Amino acid sequence: MRLSDIKILFQQELSELYSKSEIEELFSIFAGHLLNLNKIELRHNLEKNLSESDSKQFSEYISELKTGKPFQQILGETEFYGMKFFVNEYVLIPRPETEELLELAIGKIHLDRVREPQPDNPTTLQLSNSLVKILDIGTGSGIIPIVLKKHFPEAEVTAIDISEDALEVAKKNAEFHKTEINFLKKDYLNEVFDSVQTDNEVFDVIISNPPYIGIEENPEIEDSVKGFEPNLALFSPTSDALIFYRKIAQDCKNHLAENGFLFLEINQKLGKETLELYKNGFSEVELLKDISGNDRMIFGRK
Ligand SMILES: C[S@@+](CC[C@H](N)C(=O)[O-])C[C@H]1O[C@@H](n2cnc3c(N)ncnc32)[C@H](O)[C@@H]1O
Repeated sequence: MRLSDIKILFQQELSELYSKSEIEELFSIFAGHLLNLNKIELRHNLEKNLSESDSKQFSEYISELKTGKPFQQILGETEFYGMKFFVNEYVLIPRPETEELLELAIGKIHLDRVREPQPDNPTTLQLSNSLVKILDIGTGSGIIPIVLKKHFPEAEVTAIDISEDALEVAKKNAEFHKTEINFLKKDYLNEVFDSVQTDNEVFDVIISNPPYIGIEENPEIEDSVKGFEPNLALFSPTSDALIFYRKIAQDCKNHLAENGFLFLEINQKLGKETLELYKNGFSEVELLKDISGNDRMIFGRK
């Protein structure tokens, strides 16, 4: 079988599920992955004869794609913030909106870090001289703490998740990227700051992309998302879609340092309601849009 035959097979077999351009993209992703070729090289190798094992592997990819399974889960990996991360059915597939959240965080922390102390701006976070403590709530595949640790190697980074299976993926990713992160299995809504060890803990940066889809939004979520990604990562556990945000606002009172930073990814439909929760107790708080113009992030400075 030649690569061009596989390309035709992709179009024939997947046309009920995907558009022509999506299939082109999927072909490039899978062929690129299996044969280690970029898009231009693929075009030049279309008439290449494939080995039997590669042909068989392509057929397996097509069978899995036909079930609607996301390509990242089929490959077992994805790219996020220019880095490779392992994923499986126990973790949310990292989204571009979370890259924007990290860009914001890295920009803010970095700016304040390199800036000289400003006598007229006493709220500047002085990250360079002391140990910086960062907490990520609901870490999933570990993308947030790993990217932050790469940018701020001197920081002490803690990441929590309720899912043991997700933490396993996060630890594998941290090991792959040679980052040391303190991963803890915790139910944020019930035990994190109630336990003895963390009771007095204060963080300089709290960051989170918690589950934020309300139960009533369930019918609007695509089957490919609901059927393959963990509901635990997507949906609020109660009818209150803001339950995590309420607890984070409450916890910031005792567990976010003075002048500390808060970064949150939010439900685009609940921008104003979410912002309202952070109106008190912060010297600065902003609701920010993502690249598509949707309310997507909250930045707060205590
Ligand atoms: C929207 S996902 C975000 C994953 C990752 N941070 C990202 O941005 O791709 C939310 C994560 O919160 C975790 N989670 C859900 N309920 C939790 C709870 N009560 N305590 C801690 N983590 C929880 C889920 O397991 C999931 O990994």
